[in-house]
Amino acid sequence: MEYNTSRTWLEIDLDAIAENHRRIKADIGQSEIIAVVKADAYGLGAPYISRFLEEIGVGFFAVACLEEAMELRHAGVKGEILTLGPILPMQVETAIKNNIITNIISLDHAEALSAEAVRLGKTMRGHLKLDAGMSRFGLILEGRMDAAVEETLHIANLSGLQVEGIFTHYTDADLPYGDTFNKHQIALFDEACEKLRARGLTFKKHSASSHFTSVYPQCHNDYVRVGSLLLGTDTDLPYGTQSVHAVQLKSRIYQIKEVDAGRPVSYGPIAHTLRPSRIAVVPIGYADGLRRTIQNKASLIVNGTFVPLIGKICMDYLMLDVTDIDAKVGDVVTVFGRDGDAVQELWQMAELYGGTMGEVPTVITPRVPRIYIKDGKYVGQSK
Ligand SMILES: Cc1ncc(COP(=O)(O)O)c(C=O)c1O
Repeated sequence: MEYNTSRTWLEIDLDAIAENHRRIKADIGQSEIIAVVKADAYGLGAPYISRFLEEIGVGFFAVACLEEAMELRHAGVKGEILTLGPILPMQVETAIKNNIITNIISLDHAEALSAEAVRLGKTMRGHLKLDAGMSRFGLILEGRMDAAVEETLHIANLSGLQVEGIFTHYTDADLPYGDTFNKHQIALFDEACEKLRARGLTFKKHSASSHFTSVYPQCHNDYVRVGSLLLGTDTDLPYGTQSVHAVQLKSRIYQIKEVDAGRPVSYGPIAHTLRPSRIAVVPIGYADGLRRTIQNKASLIVNGTFVPLIGKICMDYLMLDVTDIDAKVGDVVTVFGRDGDAVQELWQMAELYGGTMGEVPTVITPRVPRIYIKDGKYVGQSK
């Protein structure tokens, strides 16, 4: 289906992503970028976005799991791909065949992967994860630094594994109060790397996600692992490098009806018209990934003006009160993004969701085509 016949679409500005790439590169000196394109590139469409990033010079990608890595390979991505989550021994053969690097999360995990690779007569490429404070995957460093170093030495010597990198993922305590804890995590990772170096082990190192890349240059290491900063889904950082907003969600009015005062609107009904009203029916609902937490409280933009969303969000539709504006069937509705001077920022949606900015596009479902814009023109779409 073509973009201009689509009912609802997610519009992605490739120039904004290229600008974010340029800003990050300017900031990180000799380090390189690992582009985090998990969860379908935070909903922006991983195959298209990753191919575009390859064109502008990105050579390393991170995804959540082997399935996502394979999606990139099938899309023709040639660069390095790291799974940020672990793979299972039964997935080792596929990973090796497709030159995928995996996260190694523990001694047991390393031994299991190595044993499988040895059974296949191959070696598996991996980056070993250290836990500097998040209590998720990796060898815990706090209070057991020496044990973690010994385990790393053991893992590095397993014959089925080729450990090329070492990394951690910091929990980003809110600034300014979290600064001390953030720096403590950085110090723990650095100490582990230094102890390993003293024992003759040097790996490629990476630790910084967007916030740390932006705020703590001392942890840029060999690579920074950036998702939201690069994809423009995190545009309200109070400190450091800023990124450009790259994504908008649009729909269009399918019907406008004149409704008397006191009539119910949508399911429930939790809303009634307070006056004779013009109600616009818009083809976007929770099956498109619009969360019902915004119902009856958000306003969306039509023809440069915010209008209230009334009643519950249905599976495929929502209703707007367009009584006070000049609106007609076919007019574009901006859920988030810009229309004229009116802007609904991702952070505003995130607040209505009670979530993060990255979450807002990430939960948009595959039914909604992803439309790519470059130099102000349509250049492609996800389906
Ligand atoms: C392990 C890991 N690295 C990097 C990232 C990228 O984070 P951000 O989008 O903040 O750059 C994530 C995101 O959740 C992650 O889980």
